[in-house]
Amino acid sequence: MKCTLIKDLYRKTGDYENNNVQVAGLVRTVRSSKSFGFIELNDGSFFKNLQIVFDEKLDNFEELTKLTISSSIIVEGKIVKTENAKQPFEMHAEKVQIFNLADNSYPIQKKNTSFEFLRTQAHLRPRTNTFSAVFRIRSVAAFAIHEYFQNNGYVYVNTPIITCADCEGSAEMFKLTTLDLTKPLPTTEDGKTDFSKDLFGKQAFITGSGQLHGETFAIAFNKIYTFGPTLRSENSNTKTHMNEFWMIEPEISFCDLDELMNIEEDFLKYVVKAVLDKCPEEMEFCDKFISKGLIEKLNKLLDSSFVRIDHKEAIDLLKKADRKWEFQPDYGEDLAKEHEKYITEYFNGPVFVKNWPKDIKSYYMKLNEDGKTVAAVDLEVPGAGEIMGGSQREEDYNKLFNRMKEMGIDTDPLYWYLDLRRFGSNIHSGFGLGFERLLMYITGMENIRDVIPYPRTPNSCDF
Ligand code: 4AD
Ligand code: MG
Repeated sequence: MKCTLIKDLYRKTGDYENNNVQVAGLVRTVRSSKSFGFIELNDGSFFKNLQIVFDEKLDNFEELTKLTISSSIIVEGKIVKTENAKQPFEMHAEKVQIFNLADNSYPIQKKNTSFEFLRTQAHLRPRTNTFSAVFRIRSVAAFAIHEYFQNNGYVYVNTPIITCADCEGSAEMFKLTTLDLTKPLPTTEDGKTDFSKDLFGKQAFITGSGQLHGETFAIAFNKIYTFGPTLRSENSNTKTHMNEFWMIEPEISFCDLDELMNIEEDFLKYVVKAVLDKCPEEMEFCDKFISKGLIEKLNKLLDSSFVRIDHKEAIDLLKKADRKWEFQPDYGEDLAKEHEKYITEYFNGPVFVKNWPKDIKSYYMKLNEDGKTVAAVDLEVPGAGEIMGGSQREEDYNKLFNRMKEMGIDTDPLYWYLDLRRFGSNIHSGFGLGFERLLMYITGMENIRDVIPYPRTPNSCDF
């Protein structure tokens, strides 16, 4: 069965005018009178629907007037230009085959379309306007990310999902075992679980970051990136955290913190521009119905250069602010959501916050000369908060080794990571971009659960 895509009808209308074509898809709405009716058909290829006009000449006219939302149909008809109408053309149906008349109980009806409700209908929500826009943008953004790195000489690396390497803190890593949890676990002499009896002969985890493995490839290939699922077991119920998300982690050799920020900025602008260029209908919808002024905000981003401030300056700014905080800003502390919000609103755009206190950051970050801060940088944006976290890596073997010991990181299993500092060490840097946080920023969606097909969060693993 050869069908024409509705996207092609819109993009190359001239080629189809007055021609007969076949289309197939889902019914979005039906309106009818005694002798004729209109079907809004969506075939998934395009954000917009095709308007189909049918009339009593069709032998199943009566049946068509009773079509239900989300029925699937196959239609043959003629593409006709429509002067002065909302849509530039329509189809005059010559044959409509009802493939599946959807049950009347189809849950997504006009009266209940809150995002909370649609989360309970995650298997059906891609058929709605909002999720049609969000998930097409997700696909286009993913492609643009690959395109950016491929065009700029980066090698794509698939780092392991199963790992024993602790990058962002083992407490947040999901444990992976084939031991039978319904039976007493094997124990060692000192009473601990005996993981030597487990599948891998030791305790294994699911990755919370591909960075360490990424670094090994960056030394060999100069520039690399990863793009894959990332799992963290943190019990945070917020609008910006999930237990499963997708992360992009580039790692660049012979690159310091300043150059890293240049790359982050260039990269973010590239992806935003690609989505604006390739998804005009979807972005227009988001601008109108999800977040007013979105397109203007993104266009402004393309023309701006991002503010860069030290963590200390950020705290100064927060302390000077004439307002009450739920969490008092402090020089030794992380930024709370309310702080991130204040700072991005203050500068009215993305802000790089750099040179963080060493004690609240990871062991692999380069210690600055002051001995107190590390060369780390977070990119904060309005709404999604921290979308990128990165750093220059400690390239000195002894400093790294000591820092790991200080922070209680077991150095033995990470001998291979330390080896990088013995064989051809270099100044290198990298960052991690949370893909869903980027999508929140681009689409204006306020809850991270609404930019991933099937969200995984504490107490919620449906579908
Ligand atoms: O700041 P994070 O923890 O940094 C790393 O994992 C480094 N290894 C990255 C690197 O330097 N290669 O995570 C990076 C980004 C965050 O800025 C955020 O956008 C996203 O990942 N992220 C989450 N997104 C959704 N849900 C969560 N629970 C997230 N945790 C982090
Ligand atoms: Mg971070």
